[in-house]
Amino acid sequence: MTKSLYAIGGGQMVEAIIRASLKNRAIDSETTYVVDISPNRVRHLAETYHVNASSEFHADALDAADLILLGVRPQDDWAGIAKKIGVSGKKKTLISIVAGVTVKQLTEALGDEDYPIVRIIPNTLTDTGFGVSGAALNGAAKRENVDEFLRSFGKVDYIPEKQIDIYTGYAIAGPNYVYNFYLALTNAGVLGGLSRKQANDIALENLQGAAKMLEITGKHPYELLDINNSAGGVGIAAQHELDASDFAAGVQNAVLAAIKRTTELGKEH
Ligand SMILES: NC(=O)c1ccc[n+]([C@@H]2O[C@H](COP(=O)([O-])OP(=O)(O)OC[C@H]3O[C@@H](n4cnc5c(N)ncnc54)[C@H](OP(=O)(O)O)[C@@H]3O)[C@@H](O)[C@H]2O)c1
Repeated sequence: MTKSLYAIGGGQMVEAIIRASLKNRAIDSETTYVVDISPNRVRHLAETYHVNASSEFHADALDAADLILLGVRPQDDWAGIAKKIGVSGKKKTLISIVAGVTVKQLTEALGDEDYPIVRIIPNTLTDTGFGVSGAALNGAAKRENVDEFLRSFGKVDYIPEKQIDIYTGYAIAGPNYVYNFYLALTNAGVLGGLSRKQANDIALENLQGAAKMLEITGKHPYELLDINNSAGGVGIAAQHELDASDFAAGVQNAVLAAIKRTTELGKEH
């Protein structure tokens, strides 16, 4: 069922969420209200998505909404905003995408131990139907109140809050690792003598096809490699070079660095 939404902070991530949720009819433009302190963002959101957008906090719209989406940056006044939400007394589920801000910090700012809070780390593949957001609920929040909305911009994994940092570094930053692999692979194609277009088209085809193979066969990658790498052949020659390189460790170190940085940022406020 369509939910009415009150979003605070109408930046890149909230726009991506609203675009997908409108397209998938989890919200509609008439009952969506976005507040952003930037007049340019207000104009852009109102013109592009025909939602109600304003630079002013709107208490009546806040009270009328089924869901509240907090989408400002960690360095913005999220605590002041949460305080205003808390005093409204309506206890509409607060979904926070503010990186590093914990359920405990939000509860303190709201000034209400029983306020329903869903802290999410949203995926960034919102226009594709792919991507997994991590969602941590406090004791007062109900999954059935948010599930349809969260699924309108990707898949959802309900996780304990302590996994949010791992989720951020591995799942949410995930497309970045794939973009880097794609770049490395396509440059190899060009280095070998293919045109940029040929290299790009082939890499995209292989990325999607290989992902599909993993999905439909359910086989371990070693099994698929065994099929492809015949004795003394081309595949095993490439495999030897990859095994001798820091390819796997490089990817793993990048993910660990992302998780570490997420944890550090969370401690900064
Ligand atoms: N972008 C991503 O890929 C991504 C992924 C996961 C999570 N997140 C999280 O999502 C949040 C937003 O990120 P973003 O990339 O969308 O940032 P953004 O584009 O900078 O959006 C934040 C918006 O909030 C506005 N704002 C600041 N203070 C406000 C206030 N008191 N009331 C109303 N609006 C206010 C900002 O206006 P001004 O610019 O004028 O200050 C800006 O338009 C962050 O907490 C981030 O950690 C982002």
